[in-house]
Amino acid sequence: MKAIGVLTSGGDAPGMNAAIRAVVRAGLARKVKIFGIMRGFSGLLNDEVREMSHRSVSNILGQGGTVLKTSRCSDFMTEDGQRRGAEILKRHGIEGLVLIGGDGTYRGAAALSRTWGIACIGVPGTIDNDLNGTDRTIGSDTAIETALDAIDKIKDTVNSMERVFVVEVMGRNCGYIALKAALAGGAEQVLIPEVTFDMSCLCGEITEGYIRGKASWIIIVAEGAIPAHELASRITGDTDLETRVVVLGHVQRGGRPTAEDRILGGRLGAAAVDLLIKGYSGQAVGMKCDRVHVVDLEEAVKPYRLDTEEDLALIKILT
Ligand code: F6P
Repeated sequence: MKAIGVLTSGGDAPGMNAAIRAVVRAGLARKVKIFGIMRGFSGLLNDEVREMSHRSVSNILGQGGTVLKTSRCSDFMTEDGQRRGAEILKRHGIEGLVLIGGDGTYRGAAALSRTWGIACIGVPGTIDNDLNGTDRTIGSDTAIETALDAIDKIKDTVNSMERVFVVEVMGRNCGYIALKAALAGGAEQVLIPEVTFDMSCLCGEITEGYIRGKASWIIIVAEGAIPAHELASRITGDTDLETRVVVLGHVQRGGRPTAEDRILGGRLGAAAVDLLIKGYSGQAVGMKCDRVHVVDLEEAVKPYRLDTEEDLALIKILT
């Protein structure tokens, strides 16, 4: 393999730069040319392809976001888009591609490798931690730290003014950030898309708590479970208690990556290059029990099942 491309696609995640840096430097160390593709699949379709050097990834390890930029590209979901993308890669002599992103990125990678003759390896980069074949995805640790920092601050005002706070975190389909942030932040309740909840039960618990003298509540809600404002107004309607809402939103996607995300990005980026050089394609790298693990892209994007039982039980005991 003489030339490898690298791109980031879908929602950016802190630690993606560490993975890009590792792809570039691990590739160059093996005498392979490395091309950076700007703006994910949409940049590929616009032929935004640049050769990268050791220096082009200097001082990016501690930066959030992605220096290659990223996008969500519906054109690439079509056969025509994939064919055009493969042609552009081949024109540059790029035989292998490292794609850093989430499930949409992996679907594009699977099509490119299966049908269009480009060797592809996926690297899990999403704050959602919703891919199979890896214990953690790049960015999720930083996102939890960011959410936790906000929860700790919210706790100060919650306790001082004795209110019910609803804090919405990211996670359209997966409650990973909500669950871990609730556990680490000592929240009273967590609502996630994986588990149906009973509103009257929740309001009953809050009212009973209030009667016992517990007037401060933090409820963490994943965006895919129920919109935070709707939840808050239903709680006020049922309990008569004052509620406030904080929607953390995209702040969770930014900021300096934690040590864990940087190390994860570094290890997985280098492992992806190694696999391409060894002739692998159509696979994703991940980390299982602190060891690099390889899984088929198709397997990686199967519906993700988050283990919730233990964490939910613990939250109940500890509040
Ligand atoms: O996939 C990562 C993610 O941050 C999700 O948690 C969130 O639902 C979504 O992206 C937001 O996407 P966008 O930035 O396109 O609004």
